[in-house]
Amino acid sequence: ERTRILVTGGAGYIGSHTCKALSAVGFEPVTVDSMVRGHEWAVQWGPLVKADIRDVDAMTATFEKYRPAAVIHFAAFIEVGESVADPATFYDNNVWGTLCLLRAMQRGNCPNIVFSSSAAVYGTPEQTPIREDHPLNPINPYGRTKLMMEQIMADFDPAYGTHHVALRYFNAAGADPDGGIGEAHNPETHLVPLAIGSALKTRGHLKVFGQDYDTPDGTCVRDYVHVSDLAQAHVASVRYLLDGGKSTALNLGTGTGNSVLEIIEAVHRAGGVAVPYENAVRRAGDPARLVATSTKAQSVLGWEPKYTDIDTIVQTAWRWHLSRKDA
Ligand code: UFG
Repeated sequence: ERTRILVTGGAGYIGSHTCKALSAVGFEPVTVDSMVRGHEWAVQWGPLVKADIRDVDAMTATFEKYRPAAVIHFAAFIEVGESVADPATFYDNNVWGTLCLLRAMQRGNCPNIVFSSSAAVYGTPEQTPIREDHPLNPINPYGRTKLMMEQIMADFDPAYGTHHVALRYFNAAGADPDGGIGEAHNPETHLVPLAIGSALKTRGHLKVFGQDYDTPDGTCVRDYVHVSDLAQAHVASVRYLLDGGKSTALNLGTGTGNSVLEIIEAVHRAGGVAVPYENAVRRAGDPARLVATSTKAQSVLGWEPKYTDIDTIVQTAWRWHLSRKDA
């Protein structure tokens, strides 16, 4: 019998890629997803339990039925703007949801959790590249929910013996190179899919948010990391915890920054069509530059990103957007 891993939010973008990666190395991913933001077509590598993580009875029953060795916890709201407009919904879904999940894990005797954290826990960086010991100063409710979830898990470890790996992603991008799954948020706010939509004329002009940042070309710089590399880091984190590894927090990025204009150019090269864009005012809460140091993930997990070239990352996203049936 394959070792089961319970994946909350397994019908989402990073969750579905992680289910595929788990399955490829012999684990059985069991997706728990409310399907509020998830996609049925993204669940291909194991069963889907349609449940909200805040439903402790449904979750307790799921733990009893599947007896997972570990949880990977993706289920959360992610849009910064939404979190500013409606923080109650974010604290409820993200923070309360995590408490409910942890309660169900205790009842189900499951002591291991790999957790989707974010570069948003650092807020506006004091220096880049960012290391894990950089001060934690989130500047919006979304980032605060992620930090609170990390803190809750840190308190649970000595009290209840629950071990966690918090993975602080920088900018997830790209799609499974084999096709079939990719980034499909609704509404979409992320740069790469919006730029592709503009190039394909399925969306209007891309708005470039801010031209006067303190960066080489004046547009914001981000560390784009391929979703399949993120998926591999989750698999490595599960193995680390199952081998008795200690609770830890790790950055996941490539260490390379690309500006908004560089992404626009990469989309142009990938698709052979220009991205129509216009200059727009800065978006609230965007730091000029977010770039990770991931040497800790390398030493703790042996993780190294395979897709380090922005053109390859954007090409996989482009191919996915051409193939998607729901676009
Ligand atoms: N951008 C544009 N135009 C757009 C959309 C984005 O110019 O239409 C710019 C943004 O200003 C930013 C860059 O493209 O400089 C990337 O923006 P994304 O929205 O794709 O990603 P963010 O860097 O804002 O967000 C990511 C994650 C969040 C996380 C945040 C902070 O998606 O979940 O990093 O760590 F909170």
